[in-house]
Amino acid sequence: MQIIVFATLEDLSRKAAEIFVDISRACIISKGRFTVAASGGSTPRRLYALLSSDSYREKIDWSHVYFFWVDERCVPKEHEDSNYRLVFETLLSKIPIPDDNIHRIRCEKGSEKAAKAYEEDLRNFFGKNILPVFDLIFLGIGEDGHTASLFPDSEALKETDRLVVPVFIEKQQKHRITLTLPVLNNGSQVIILASGSAKADIIQEILGRKDRAMQYPAGLVQPIRGNILWLVDEEAAKKLKR
Ligand code: 6PG
Repeated sequence: MQIIVFATLEDLSRKAAEIFVDISRACIISKGRFTVAASGGSTPRRLYALLSSDSYREKIDWSHVYFFWVDERCVPKEHEDSNYRLVFETLLSKIPIPDDNIHRIRCEKGSEKAAKAYEEDLRNFFGKNILPVFDLIFLGIGEDGHTASLFPDSEALKETDRLVVPVFIEKQQKHRITLTLPVLNNGSQVIILASGSAKADIIQEILGRKDRAMQYPAGLVQPIRGNILWLVDEEAAKKLKR
């Protein structure tokens, strides 16, 4: 595991964009395609905007990039809470990516059907009886230690067979769809982005105290063969001893 601390969210986002460029190039050269799973939330917004900006857009061969999502909130795709909408508005609508390369989670089917349909989409794309291997997975972290839509104490954390499950978040009375830990932990490169002082306590719990990390969903993200990189800004890292 590697942790890099940046002065600002802007610096952190630029590093993430550079990694996206480098890994996409390497994957497209070696196997002709690059697969990425994107998260929602506010933290990656700047990253997505950077990728579609003049500085980065031309550095990526978008025709060979395949976009997936790590999770989705069960709202219409036009809704302001939609993770699809976030990535579409900040990035996908501004780059020359073929529609067929965009694999969104179709929540309008209802959460159980949507989870099944997304799992089928993943199996058709990556192979029927194998765990998908994403080249790059972007995750965020909540103040309670959740990541993707894997929340503390959720049954979804115990999933070993399904690639995708529906979850109901009691506190918010909301349905979501999420990739499961076996898929996240099968990624080649997983990057967790954390920014702001509201994340300082949970970052200290997970990265500062090895004995506690496994109590939180984000701490359970430990790729089996791949790498995990935490990109954290100083505000979020302020309780970590260096
Ligand atoms: C989502 C996410 C979720 C998010 C964290 C952090 O759809 O909400 O995938 O896991 O990454 O809640 O969100 P912020 O970046 O807004 O802090």
